[in-house]
Amino acid sequence: MPTLLFYSQDDPVDLWVPELRKRLPRDVKVVVHPDIGDPAEIDYALVWKPPAGMIAGLPNCKVIFSIAAGIDHILADPERPTALPIVRMVDPALRDMMSEHAMLGVLYFHRFLGHYLENQPKGIWDRKWARHTPDHHVAVLGLGHIGAEVARKFAVYGFQVHGWSRSEKRIPGVECRTGDKGLTDVLSRANYVVNVLPLTDETRTILSATTFELMPKGAVIVNLGRGGHVAEDDLIPALDSGQLGGAFLDVFETEPLPKDHPFWRHPKIVVTPHVAGELLPQSCAQVLASNVRKHIAGETIPHIVDLERGY
Ligand code: NDP
Ligand code: OXD
Repeated sequence: MPTLLFYSQDDPVDLWVPELRKRLPRDVKVVVHPDIGDPAEIDYALVWKPPAGMIAGLPNCKVIFSIAAGIDHILADPERPTALPIVRMVDPALRDMMSEHAMLGVLYFHRFLGHYLENQPKGIWDRKWARHTPDHHVAVLGLGHIGAEVARKFAVYGFQVHGWSRSEKRIPGVECRTGDKGLTDVLSRANYVVNVLPLTDETRTILSATTFELMPKGAVIVNLGRGGHVAEDDLIPALDSGQLGGAFLDVFETEPLPKDHPFWRHPKIVVTPHVAGELLPQSCAQVLASNVRKHIAGETIPHIVDLERGY
């Protein structure tokens, strides 16, 4: 009997397991770490942040499924069997939540919400002069499953949208660019920079003092990718000098963000606790079940990670 192992310390197992059982073929058994029975019987590992060595201890595992769009949490395991395919989560509900959060981050600053929230308990009625959205530019870094939708939504809202990816794209209403020159061009016009890149050797610390300097003074960054995309030590100086006007951050180098981390209390930073895109079991279990069915039928599973590229 094919067996699937579920492992996550952050996702609700009581919601996931019934959804998996409902959607997987009847003869696929679901086990939850640590009650996994005989490790040699596990065929599939469905994981978020697996502990080092856990997957290496499954001698007959055939596929690693990520409980996330990102797979950096799996690559972080130094003992991961490198021959095993890794499948990232590509789910429409996750994509739509990510675009909502990106919009929330931009509109928070664009519509001065921080200012009004600060004034509310003091009873201060202080109107800020509205900004004209069509005069404002949003740069979206990463135009994959999530970024393409994020860019489309900003275009629908009337922003001027510039997108950046590795390969060339065509997205209606979005000026798409590639390469180093493309990055410089999109950043140099952006009032808002939304990052939805995967974390790879090439994209680590892409948001640093060097790239902040390319942005117009007062630009805002919205980081929904990974904490490692921001050079954390460069951020507060850029905010304090006024080079950046704000930062809306959902992901951090260390999660949970340590209680004494200065980001919590900086007046120009908004922190959300890695909730931009949540993995809804009722939607993701359907994607997973379809992938397991394909594997059992000997068909190609979509969205296998290209380990050379790192995403
Ligand atoms: P995809 O793989 O579909 O898209 C990645 C995009 O990044 C692609 O457009 C790709 O270009 C581009 N890219 C990758 N490397 C480079 C590079 N070196 N230079 C330029 N562009 C590059 O991923 P998803 O859209 O599904 O997810 C993106 C990321 O969002 C995840 O990896 C994860 O880190 C983050 N995420 C965060 C969540 C949260 O809750 N905060 C939830 C979900 C995702 P190309 O198209 O040419 O390949
Ligand atoms: C993801 C995440 O990558 O939840 O899906 O961060």
